[in-house]
Amino acid sequence: MIRSVVRGIGSALPRRIMKNAEFEGVIDTSDAWIEQRTGIRQRYIAADDETTASLGEAAARAALTNAGLTVDDIDLIVLATSTPNNTFPATAVDIQNRLGMQHGFAFDMQAVCSGFVYAVTTADAYIRGGMAKRVLVIGAETFSRLLDWKDRTTCVLFGDGAGALVLEAAEGEGAIKDRGVLAAALRSDGQHKDKLYVNGGVSTTGTIGHLKMEGREVFKHAVGMITDVIEAVFDQAKIGAEDLDWFVPHQANKRIIDASAKKLGIAAEKVVITVDQHGNTSAASVPLALAVAVADGRIKRGDLVLLEAMGGGFTWGAVLLRW
Ligand code: ACO
Repeated sequence: MIRSVVRGIGSALPRRIMKNAEFEGVIDTSDAWIEQRTGIRQRYIAADDETTASLGEAAARAALTNAGLTVDDIDLIVLATSTPNNTFPATAVDIQNRLGMQHGFAFDMQAVCSGFVYAVTTADAYIRGGMAKRVLVIGAETFSRLLDWKDRTTCVLFGDGAGALVLEAAEGEGAIKDRGVLAAALRSDGQHKDKLYVNGGVSTTGTIGHLKMEGREVFKHAVGMITDVIEAVFDQAKIGAEDLDWFVPHQANKRIIDASAKKLGIAAEKVVITVDQHGNTSAASVPLALAVAVADGRIKRGDLVLLEAMGGGFTWGAVLLRW
């Protein structure tokens, strides 16, 4: 049986940190409101020379180094993003070129904040189907470019960044036994498309547009959707919350994360939180959180790790893997 095993991880953040206090006096908000309602203390904001492609490239290079591989070893790049460098070609192809890779293939996936979970699941399907042996799975975003900086209900929530995994086909017993992607479930429901969207687009306004969100409505649906899809993954893998070593959720709001973990019975000390440092980086949030927990020694080889995300569409999903 072929499994998709994590071989390496990397991440990249813009140079500039923006603290909550920088919003004070510019819009009607406060450090205390943002921190209490969301858990966010700061976010990273890309400069003009920092783009989804450049951040994705940096994260990919870090993941390759961590894996002890070069780009010659990769045959597919899947990039999760809603903030591409250009409408086309796919930013994944731009990253492929920046990495000096002229073989294999690359494409973007668009599932907003669930993008990385969708991308891991897609890469896993290519690997298990025999179409790729090693895949760079990247989540990279520059959501700061989509924000209306006068809208206090959205502009305080998001940040920029990128994270990447190298997934590798592994077969047989022994060292790789039971490692890799063990179960996954994806969902979407377009009935909710107007609750979280960008009010521009190539085929409609011909503009980039700004992010619009009915935060309270999103919040209302989030916990139920997240816990349902995780329970589906638990059923597939025949495990329960007590078997997990780490829960690495999408980092949108600490209150949503806490409520989801509580409903599922996942102990607070198993939950990886980075929303305080990064804000909501959409498709980059899960790999950025993973990279932090691997770098500080929390997530170790053999640990059972649950990834989860929910975002615009709505889209949502979960992946269970043994690190
Ligand atoms: N500073 C001060 N006050 C604010 C701010 C702000 N930055 N933003 C909103 N307020 C005000 C509102 O105007 C409102 O005032 P009112 O009562 O006078 O109308 C009050 O604070 C409460 O607003 P709510 O929207 O009810 O606040 P809530 O506790 O729901 O928090 C938040 C808002 C943080 C947006 C929350 O609803 C949330 O996290 N929603 C989900 C976001 C999410 O998970 N998105 C999915 C992923 S993102 C993606 O896919 C791209």
